[in-house]
Amino acid sequence: MSTHKPVRRVTVTEIGARKGGEKIVTLTSYDARMAAIVERHADIVLVGDSLSMVSHGMETTLPVTLDQMILHGAAVVRGTSRAMVVVDMPFGSYEEGPEAAFRSAARVMKETGCGAVKLEGGVHMAPIIAFLTRRGIPVMAHIGLTPQSSHVFGGFRTQGRDRSTWDMHRADAAAVAEAGAFAVVLEGMVEPLAAQISRELPIPTIGIGASAECDGQVLVLEDMLGLSPRVPRFVKRYADLGAVVEDAVRRYAEEVKDGKFPTTDQVYPVDPAG
Ligand code: KIV
Repeated sequence: MSTHKPVRRVTVTEIGARKGGEKIVTLTSYDARMAAIVERHADIVLVGDSLSMVSHGMETTLPVTLDQMILHGAAVVRGTSRAMVVVDMPFGSYEEGPEAAFRSAARVMKETGCGAVKLEGGVHMAPIIAFLTRRGIPVMAHIGLTPQSSHVFGGFRTQGRDRSTWDMHRADAAAVAEAGAFAVVLEGMVEPLAAQISRELPIPTIGIGASAECDGQVLVLEDMLGLSPRVPRFVKRYADLGAVVEDAVRRYAEEVKDGKFPTTDQVYPVDPAG
């Protein structure tokens, strides 16, 4: 008899069924311990390429490698049992064409055990999304502000401020849905455009700096916990863990300097007679 509890994770079908219904809770996590806490309340745990900055101290998302994404993705899958784990495809691992994208995405799926991958881009990435989904790889799309293209766009600007660009963003959204993406992240998009796209699309939209009309929200965990040095203005802070950690480390340092180490004889008293 197997002693393993069967693992029942959130599926892409269940996420799709939430369109226009109960909002989809999504948060990033990059390691097993945090992911285990996050999945108690989140439907989707995203192993975002933001780990490039948060965990590896890089300036942007561009340097993170496929191997690094796989390392973190596998840790998050091990730490969770219920949420759907989505792993970001890093810059350079999928844009070249469908075959290259498939090879990278297949590695991510096989080596992490995640439920889906996420990639950035709209109309021009639709053929790649279609190629992956028809070969068994669920794809979450990501449009609007796409950080992997920040060098082309000249920085991180909220998209859709100029109304003449709205049709382009709506076309991106329609193309990724048509290509088979099961959900789409709308990042850094003016509210009425994100709301309109959310009403128009048949698949769930997950906003980050977008609209409350999106079908769910994603935030970078460290941003909402007060662990990031700089956060976008739309991020609500739910805790100030940076201060909590610093205070604990300060008290620890004081005690160590004072020679106040917990010693083993407090835990395992030695019987002087024995
Ligand atoms: O990398 C990431 O964390 C993301 C979210 C911000 C959507 O892509």
